[in-house]
Amino acid sequence: MKSKLSIIGAGAVGTSCAKWAMIKSVAQEIVLIDIVPDLAKGKALDLAQSSPLFGFSGKIWGTQDFSAIKDSQVVIITAGKPRTPGMSREDLLNINKEIVKSCAEKVKEFAPESKVIVVSNPLDAMVYVVYKITGFPKNKVMGMAGVLDSARYRYFIAEALGVSPKDVYALVMGIHGDLMLPLTRLANVAGIPITELLSCEEIKKIVKRTKYGGGEIVEYLKTGSAFLTPGLATIEMAESILKDEKRVLTCSVYLEGEYGINGVFLGVPVILGKNGVEKILEIKLTSEELEVLKECARHCEELIKMTGL
Ligand code: LAC
Repeated sequence: MKSKLSIIGAGAVGTSCAKWAMIKSVAQEIVLIDIVPDLAKGKALDLAQSSPLFGFSGKIWGTQDFSAIKDSQVVIITAGKPRTPGMSREDLLNINKEIVKSCAEKVKEFAPESKVIVVSNPLDAMVYVVYKITGFPKNKVMGMAGVLDSARYRYFIAEALGVSPKDVYALVMGIHGDLMLPLTRLANVAGIPITELLSCEEIKKIVKRTKYGGGEIVEYLKTGSAFLTPGLATIEMAESILKDEKRVLTCSVYLEGEYGINGVFLGVPVILGKNGVEKILEIKLTSEELEVLKECARHCEELIKMTGL
């Protein structure tokens, strides 16, 4: 069967996903969808015309018609409003929950076999909305945040040390919000713990900047939020599923007892393959780290309550 990726929402993040998906040739067919008449068509056509320049041989096209997502192995939902300066991701809950709900209904109807990656904010609550509305098994519904937050964390560590970001490994767990947990204990540069290379003060600064990494960009852009790295981070996840790569990526997934947490979506390291979330990796955390994760879970529970689902 042909590999097919659908992206719902042709805004900045959706378009960035489509662009990275093409550059990385993650699927033979890429469909971009938006309810705004002709928006997805125009953006996809613009992208399609770049195919000869870097050699994409697949098909990329746009439409308003949700039935186009049929037979997709992966569907990405980016639809919704982004933040503007002064807003938290949570301020978007009421408006985005209706948008995300309607997208989830379409995914259930037209692509019942797909794996769904949610990107809309507030992320961990929006993934829950998709999980509830589609009724899909938990391995098939996940949110993109950890890959992005971890990339920001890795970049800031590399910048502070003046080393290649390629050699920096670090992960951010928890909620996609101010409570997130960038793990300092496990962050390393080519296997060397960052605690050996940076002072406590420097690490604190990096952790703080990581937590507000999205907000810093919102303040600069003024009319929207980050979209370039969010797009690539989403495609890293889609690629691991479409190519059955079994990558270990931090994704927002439904927890049922892992880390002592139940009934919410939170960012934890998982193995992503053709079946979606193939395994949740339950690593040993210190009691302080676990306490932050539990605080994230409590916060996520409150957000879920606000969705009314
Ligand atoms: C950010 C948005 C995508 O963190 O949540 O930039």
